[in-house]
Amino acid sequence: MTTKPTVLKELPADLKRDRLPRHVAVIMDGNGRWAKRRGLPRIMGHPRGVDSLREAVRCCDDWGIQALTVYAFSTENWNRPQQEVMLIMTLIEQFLRRELPEMMERDIRLKLMGNLSALPASLQAAMEQSMNATSNNRGMQFTVATNYGGRQEILQACRTIAHQVQQGALSPDEIDESVFERHLYTASICDPDLLIRTSGEMRISNFLLWQVAYSEIYITETLWPDFNRDELRRALLAYQQRERRFGKV
Ligand code: FPP
Repeated sequence: MTTKPTVLKELPADLKRDRLPRHVAVIMDGNGRWAKRRGLPRIMGHPRGVDSLREAVRCCDDWGIQALTVYAFSTENWNRPQQEVMLIMTLIEQFLRRELPEMMERDIRLKLMGNLSALPASLQAAMEQSMNATSNNRGMQFTVATNYGGRQEILQACRTIAHQVQQGALSPDEIDESVFERHLYTASICDPDLLIRTSGEMRISNFLLWQVAYSEIYITETLWPDFNRDELRRALLAYQQRERRFGKV
């Protein structure tokens, strides 16, 4: 990952600059419950979820996190009511179009990952436009998983590698972790150091299955629309108190 030197703004005093995770991944859960608790239709939680996301991007960038990856829409989310699916698609498109100027200003490089070809044409166009526009930026890597599934990602990597073997471009013995990782959507991004899941659910939900092998997992009861700078500070604080052993003693 090539990033420009980071300028850390407003890092809370209780966080150590030299122990920040390089890559934070987030499962943004609890939008529906947030709305229901307020007597609103559950889909009304998603626009508030977008506000939290905007703030999380700003905050990670301000504090010098090198990469942020969020789970916006899973391959399983197509099973939700059509109205909700359409709303999420619309919100992602609006977000990309509206946030592009600020992403340029912040030098953020945007990547969309998942089976993007199955998404509405106007959303695909917005994705392509914002990825192209930010492709030479050198600041934080911001990745939005859309129509993404960890198993599907692993399968498509296997398929590509199998074709290479079939064509004689690769020998089976050459397939190691680094070859495999080069075929994942996250090829140029380091694995997440910290995986945050909001709303108290204790599941990975098919998110970054390969990449979270050694990630520290932080689960908060806070619902995603209520996740703010202070919540992120707490997650980072918890991370900094963990001892990472990567299988060693
Ligand atoms: C989970 O909440 C959230 C989602 C399935 C969608 C996340 C989408 C956004 C935050 C907005 C759009 C994204 C971008 C990138 C602009 P849930 O509805 O499953 O909550 P529940 O478990 O309480 O029902």
